[in-house]
Amino acid sequence: MRGATSTRTGPGRAAARAAAAAAATDPPDRAAAGNGADPAPRAATLGPADGPLVDSYARVHRDLRVSLTDKCSLRCTYCMPAEGVEWMAQASVLTPDELVRVARVAVGLGITTIRLTGGEPLLYADVVEVVRRISRLEGPDGPVRVAMTTNGIKLPDFLPDLAAAGLGRLNVSLDTLRRDRFLELTRRDRLDRVLAGIEAARRSGLRPLKLNAVAMRGVNDDELVDLVEFALEHDAQMRFIEQMPLDAGHTWDRGRMVTREEILAALGERFDLQPVPGRGGAPAETWAIDGGPHTVGVIASVTAPFCGNCDRLRLTADGQLRNCLFSTTEHDLKPILRGDDPTDEGIEAMIRSCVWRKLPGHNIDDPSFLQPARGMNAIGG
Ligand code: GTP
Ligand code: 5AD
Ligand code: SF4
Repeated sequence: MRGATSTRTGPGRAAARAAAAAAATDPPDRAAAGNGADPAPRAATLGPADGPLVDSYARVHRDLRVSLTDKCSLRCTYCMPAEGVEWMAQASVLTPDELVRVARVAVGLGITTIRLTGGEPLLYADVVEVVRRISRLEGPDGPVRVAMTTNGIKLPDFLPDLAAAGLGRLNVSLDTLRRDRFLELTRRDRLDRVLAGIEAARRSGLRPLKLNAVAMRGVNDDELVDLVEFALEHDAQMRFIEQMPLDAGHTWDRGRMVTREEILAALGERFDLQPVPGRGGAPAETWAIDGGPHTVGVIASVTAPFCGNCDRLRLTADGQLRNCLFSTTEHDLKPILRGDDPTDEGIEAMIRSCVWRKLPGHNIDDPSFLQPARGMNAIGG
């Protein structure tokens, strides 16, 4: 499918590259903007016009996370406020045709995995159609793999259709097994629905099945072993996530965060854990539990950042490309998608430019760190 993305050189392509270079929504004072600041002039250039999707630190990008909607049926405290969310205007949310067009260009540039996220991706009306169309894309290395991260609530309704449409695997959020805690944490009384969704995922046979819990002090840090046992019963990999500064209320406190070390110490009291080699670009480090075959993962973005191997690019539901979870700048694809250029040159140029301008890491520990303006539900995890 590489031919689907134009690789010719010529005036159209040069113009597209120049436009992409100018299109990032940088604040005027980029040099003083913390994690929003590319260290120009290194990143002011555009990078290679052909070949793999590479940034200026030689990281090849293979993974695209597509947020389908900022809407969610839960209100997790670490992600969204209880009320007063400013939703994206419906008109700015990408249509299936627009999403698939970006995905097709990205796959032509070497993206091998596309993960659909949200908000809650199963609230996007055409989610099954999107999965069907994206899973048919082929890049230079073969067919794309399609995955999804979901809160699980609608899985029992959607799973047969999603699997038939080509969905390859699922990650489901599960922070607690206790109904009262679930209600407090998500502000919705839906634990039973989530558990039914996980059971549907278990029965679907889509593997690996992963369960995500953000570890929170005084909230669920006494449930880590129980969550692993639940995952084992469901043939799933439990993963614990260090909380990141992405909450709408800006209440994140590094000192209160449950760390990788604490998670491993708690699990080590109950299980024998042996590190699994070959992590690649994955955010999760994994350990075999009691000799395997099951594993448990820890995503330690804060105390053990993995940015040096990052291979990820993000597309928000309203058409913004982001080269990092913590970017404070975005590249707006909508004018291209809704303009009158039938070629894909502008899309390719903007993807390449966005990746090229990626910073080496998130700098959470730097005093200049700025939390992104958008919440996690709008960024897409
Ligand atoms: P796999 O492909 O199964 O490894 O998925 P994943 O772990 O990348 O995706 P998932 O949506 O399940 O995310 C789990 C956690 O990892 C969430 O808290 C994400 O925000 C976080 N995460 C995913 N990608 C990145 C990343 O590139 N950087 C950081 N810092 N966190 C990430
Ligand atoms: N820190 C870490 N993980 C988070 N998630 C949402 N917000 C945060 C945060 N502030 C997780 C969710 C979901 C995944 C997409 O991201 O729990 O599993
Ligand atoms: Fe990649 Fe940014 Fe995540 Fe680091 S914080 S791993 S650079 S997305």
